[in-house]
Amino acid sequence: MQRTVRPEILDELPPADARAIRSRRDLQRVNHVMGNRVILDRAIRHALPLPAPHARLRILELGAGDGSLALRVATRLAASWPVAELTLLDRQPLISDETGIAFAHLGWSLRALATDALEWARAPTPRPLTDRWDVILANLFLHHFEAAALRELLSAVADRCEAFVACEPRRSLPSLLGSRLLPALAVSRDTLHDAVVSVRAGFCGDELSRIWPARPGRWKMTERPAGLFSHLFVAVHGGAA
Ligand SMILES: C[S@@+](CC[C@H](N)C(=O)[O-])C[C@H]1O[C@@H](n2cnc3c(N)ncnc32)[C@H](O)[C@@H]1O
Repeated sequence: MQRTVRPEILDELPPADARAIRSRRDLQRVNHVMGNRVILDRAIRHALPLPAPHARLRILELGAGDGSLALRVATRLAASWPVAELTLLDRQPLISDETGIAFAHLGWSLRALATDALEWARAPTPRPLTDRWDVILANLFLHHFEAAALRELLSAVADRCEAFVACEPRRSLPSLLGSRLLPALAVSRDTLHDAVVSVRAGFCGDELSRIWPARPGRWKMTERPAGLFSHLFVAVHGGAA
């Protein structure tokens, strides 16, 4: 299946539109069925060094949506990293007060950044370079971009973090079949449309590794199928992916 990137309905609806609210709720169930929280949790733990006592973890999620997936990941990680600073970047301001309160209860500090990811990538790399994110995350996000934009985005990511973990739709016939079975979860027509578009724009093989900026010897990468429908890419600076 050739990769094709087409607009998704959710990206074009205003945040408060009833259809968008329904789609974001559906997305939580889609993430659950795909097992993306578990996939990300394991990949992040594997990519990070063991926490030093009182170490402060700095995480950025690109295309974080309403932050509900980040909250579920954070709830698991907080046992090992009680002190953390999480930034959730999305083009739309989607983080609710309840989500903010839930992060506060965890003891993690939260910053919501309503910015386009490509603008973030095109901004000058913050100095000093030692002040990098421990982890940059992306879930169901990279597939929005054509190869050239993705190259630009991943180049900025590689400049700004110690580890990058991305969980994306896997471009495969089982995923396409799975997306067509979503009516069984009573999702909306918009979600069904976006799921099929997402699979066709998803990834397989070593497509993301080949787009990752070549810095020989400096990054260890793994890229593989994860769960039934997901595709996992992990890059660790100088370490074990
Ligand atoms: C499929 S949702 C995934 C949300 C979240 N990661 C999750 O798994 O629940 C994709 C998100 O990417 C955001 N998005 C799309 N293009 C973007 C861009 N160029 N910059 C920042 N956010 C973008 C959308 O607003 C949407 O919230």
